Amino acid sequence: MRGQPIPIRPRRNVLSFPTPTSGREELTQQLATRLVGQTHAIAEIVPYVQMYRAGLAPEGRPAGVFLLLGPTGTGKTRTVEALADTLHGNEKSLLRIDCGEFQMEHEIAKLIGAPPGYLGHRETPPMLTQQKLGAVTSEGSHLALILFDEIEKAAPSMTRLLLGVLDKAVLRLGDNTSVNFERTLIFLTSNLGASAMRKEVLPDFGFGAAVPGSGEGTLRKLSSIGLAAVKRKFSPEFVNRIDAVITYQPLDAEALDVILDQQIAALERHIAHRLEERAFTLELDASARRFLLARGTSREYGARELKRVILRKLTQPLAAMVESGSIPPEAVVQVVHPGNAEQLNLSVTGN
Ligand SMILES: Nc1ncnc2c1ncn2[C@@H]1O[C@H](COP(=O)(O)OP(=O)(O)OP(=O)(O)O)[C@@H](O)[C@H]1O
Ligand SMILES: [Mg+2]
Repeated sequence: MRGQPIPIRPRRNVLSFPTPTSGREELTQQLATRLVGQTHAIAEIVPYVQMYRAGLAPEGRPAGVFLLLGPTGTGKTRTVEALADTLHGNEKSLLRIDCGEFQMEHEIAKLIGAPPGYLGHRETPPMLTQQKLGAVTSEGSHLALILFDEIEKAAPSMTRLLLGVLDKAVLRLGDNTSVNFERTLIFLTSNLGASAMRKEVLPDFGFGAAVPGSGEGTLRKLSSIGLAAVKRKFSPEFVNRIDAVITYQPLDAEALDVILDQQIAALERHIAHRLEERAFTLELDASARRFLLARGTSREYGARELKRVILRKLTQPLAAMVESGSIPPEAVVQVVHPGNAEQLNLSVTGN
C-alpha cells in the first residue's frame, strides 16, 4: 500500500458536537448541589468518571482510586453518596466496607469468603462479589462505587488484598473465583492526620473560640499533614496506586448556611413522606436560622453538629407537637427564635 495517498477524512462539523467539557460541567454541577463547599474534591473526581464514560479508563485497574482525608463531618462519605445519587439516582447505591470490622487477620474471611472445606465456608458468603458490585449499579451507569471506610483500621492482610485490587482490579475469593474491579470507583477514607489537622484548625481548642474560616492556606496545610500521615502508615506501593489523595477542609459559614437549607428541605421531605395526609410545612425566619447556625457551627464536628442541633431544637419539639395532635394537616409551622432563649418557638398558623 506504500505510496498510495492517505485518504483525507471529510471534516466534521465541529459545532454539532458538544464542547469537550460540557459533560464534565454538568456532572460537576450535579455534584455541587449535593456536596457543598468541597469544590476541589469534585474537581479531582469528575475527570475519572468522564474517562470511564468515554470508555477511555485504563484497562486492568479500577476506573479511579481516591483517598479521602480530613476532619469529621466535612462530607467525605457524603461525596460518595452524592455520586451514587447522580450516577444511579439513589444515594444508597454504593458498597460500603467498614474496615473497622476487619482489624483481625481471621476476619478477612468475611470479606472474601472461606475456602471450600474450611469451617464456615457456607455460613460466610463473601461481602465482595461480582454480584454485589452489580447490585449497586443501575440502568443509567454500570460504574460501581465502593467505599472502604477507615482504611487505617484494616488488618495488614486486608491492606495486601486491597493492594491487589488497586493494582490489577482483581480480587480472588476464598472459593478461587475472582471479582473484577475495572468498572469501579474506589474510595478509601481515613482519619490519618485528623488529630494534627484538628490542632491546625482549632489552635485555641478548649478556650471556646472556634469561628470557622477556611481558605487555600488552610487546605494546603491540611493536605500536607494528611499526606505525611499517609506516607508514614502505608507502603510506597500502596500510596502509589492511589490516583488522588483529597483533603477535605472545615466547612465555612457560607457552606453551613447552604447545608442548613438542605437539611430543612430534607426534614420537610421526611415529614411529607412519613406523615402523608397529616403532613405540614415549615417556615423558619432569619432569627431561627441564625440560632441553628450559631449552635450548630463547630470546627470539631463539622456538619454533624448542625444535624444534631436541628434534631434537638427542631425535630424533637415538632415530634412532641405531632404526638399531642397540635398540628392540623397541611398547617404551616412558623419557627422563630425569641431573644436569648435556648429554644426555638414553634407556632401553627394554618395554611
Ligand atoms: N460538604 C457537605 N455538603 C453537604 N452536606 C454535608 C457536607 N458535609 C457534611 N454534610 C452533612 O453531614 C453529614 C455527615 O457528613 P459525612 O458523613 O460526609 O462526614 P465525613 O466527612 O464522612 O465524616 P467522618 O470522618 O466522621 O466519617 C452528611 O450526611 C451530610 O448530611
Ligand atoms: Mg464518613
